Amino acid sequence: MSGAPGSPPELAPDDVFDAEAVGRYLRTQWLGRPYHHLSDATSTNDVLMRLAQEGAPAGTVVAAETQTQGRGRRGRCWQTEPGRNLTFSLLLRPSWRPPTLPPLSLAVGVGLAQGLTPWLPQPARLKWPNDLLCGGRKLGGVLVELAADTREVRHVVVGIGINVNQLEFSGEVGGTATSLRREHGAPLARAAVLAAVLAALEGPIEAALGDRLGPVLEQWTALAEGIGQAVVVMTPQGSETGVAVGIDAQGALLLRDAQGRERRLLAGDVLLGPRPAPPPTGG
Ligand code: BTN
Repeated sequence: MSGAPGSPPELAPDDVFDAEAVGRYLRTQWLGRPYHHLSDATSTNDVLMRLAQEGAPAGTVVAAETQTQGRGRRGRCWQTEPGRNLTFSLLLRPSWRPPTLPPLSLAVGVGLAQGLTPWLPQPARLKWPNDLLCGGRKLGGVLVELAADTREVRHVVVGIGINVNQLEFSGEVGGTATSLRREHGAPLARAAVLAAVLAALEGPIEAALGDRLGPVLEQWTALAEGIGQAVVVMTPQGSETGVAVGIDAQGALLLRDAQGRERRLLAGDVLLGPRPAPPPTGG
């Protein structure tokens, strides 16, 4: 790799994306070691859950060019154009005991935002619980799934989707999605982006595994959209309206209602209000 420190790695013009290319860029201690590259999968989360049951080590990453049954949060589909984006999952083996699990997905969001910053004209932002945004549009998402019984968590699979080189978005996400290429203005080498993201994820994930999340949650709050603002939160029980005042140590969203009461929300989607229109230009 070449380039000034802190600048994005030099980008391959033809986006070669395979295990060898990822290996050339990878500078991590443990994440992505081993790395499995698939041309297609139902869902990389499913493939990695299976490998975990067969004894795969913590840090294993599975990436696929195409997913036929990609999943999003809350039962949604995750559909992206094959061969243009990143869809991958990583395996963790924490020693956590239910029911109190640390807010791993927030830590992952912080790592993603930091890892992608070199390619974005403005810092990536986060929306509770784990949407990755740029310019108010969705750039990626995180789906954490775990295998656990009442006494212990056996393993955790973190699935991550990042829109990289896709230019057009249609259907439900038509007006609300973006990609690194749209923001950066040029196509990117996915191997370089994946390696940078894995490197940026190691610190925040280690903090979550070691129960040292305080500074990471402060970073999350600094990167978050909607904190201090009036929002609507779609929860599994219905919609809640109020001012999002912050998150707590468990990653719950704290929402203050019109009567001044504070509620802790553990699951849902934040809907942000309309973005202010840019000031008029010219006379
Ligand atoms: C969301 O924003 O709803 C979360 C999207 C997570 C998508 C990723 S793509 C890789 C992994 N495999 C899946 O089936 N889902 C996650």
